[in-house]
Amino acid sequence: MTSLTLARPDDWHLHLRDGAMLRAVLPWTARDFARAIIMPNLVPPVVTGTQAAAYRDRILAALPDGMTFEPLMTLYLTEDTDADDVAAAHTSGLVKAVKLYPAGATTNSASGVTNFDKVRPVLERMAEIGLPLCVHGEVTDRDIDIFDREAVFIDRVLDPIRRATPGLRVVMEHITTLNSVDYARAQDNSLGATITTHHLVINRNHILAGGIRPHYYCLPVAKREEHRLALRAAATSGEARFFLGTDSAPHTDDNKLQPCGCAGCFTAPNTLPILAQVFEEEGALDQLEAFTSKNGPAFYGLPVNQDTVTLTKTAPDLPSQIDTAEGPVTVFDPGFDLTWSVQ
Ligand code: NCD
Ligand code: ZN
Repeated sequence: MTSLTLARPDDWHLHLRDGAMLRAVLPWTARDFARAIIMPNLVPPVVTGTQAAAYRDRILAALPDGMTFEPLMTLYLTEDTDADDVAAAHTSGLVKAVKLYPAGATTNSASGVTNFDKVRPVLERMAEIGLPLCVHGEVTDRDIDIFDREAVFIDRVLDPIRRATPGLRVVMEHITTLNSVDYARAQDNSLGATITTHHLVINRNHILAGGIRPHYYCLPVAKREEHRLALRAAATSGEARFFLGTDSAPHTDDNKLQPCGCAGCFTAPNTLPILAQVFEEEGALDQLEAFTSKNGPAFYGLPVNQDTVTLTKTAPDLPSQIDTAEGPVTVFDPGFDLTWSVQ
């Protein structure tokens, strides 16, 4: 196959940041994607409907002339979140999900949740109105090994929350383990799971073997090869519960290349070429559209995009780094030459 036309993809987990960084990274998403679920982990976080509306306006103002893109806003769940405010932001159509960060789990998650009982009324309200909860699924206990934090979260937090809140729609975000794939497969259609581009490509050796590679450090951290293979099987399966959430998370090289560097891979520019290659390697190009363009809208109850993108079998001309007013940001390097381009 040398050409492939898909309904225009959406990204169901994206970090756009704000200000100069937003202006620099947004066009890279808008050129290939119609919509994205926008992560609310700004400083300060996007907690209220008013803040989400203002952030949405800043995103649209940063969009270059002639480009179209629809930001699907989220609210950052805190122990003080007001259920009425969440419900109003949902009813108005502004907000498409609420984001749960366990406090301290990742970049800018300090305002997240420590005591899950405190958010119970908000979760119950969300179940009533059908508003999905997007979950960063890692426990933060110091005594739990970082490579086990996702699997432990399922047993200790995710499954108890779902049992206590029947009907709550949940997205397990950026899953990185066979355990999460298995758990997702055993649930009904109230549960979806996103998979990133980079977790289909790297395992933990890419980060740590033969020298430390900070640009591959993200959270949840990439796991063993058996987990990467399980993610590839899930993503390419066509199963409705699995869809693309790139978790494209730009940080300047200054902030990545530090004694204590930031977590995040910037994959917005080359996600579609990488995915086409992964799906081709798995003999599953016919399932790419389900993963990038169909399963996500079905979970969120939104229409599939009418517009299309066409991928052709030619090496893309993509930068390895982009300039921003805050400094250069390195684009995720899959470690192989790309063979598909977005036309
Ligand atoms: C994200 C970021 O930089 O905001 N980093 C990451 O490694 N994925 C936060 C997150 O989604 O965990
Ligand atoms: Zn993220």
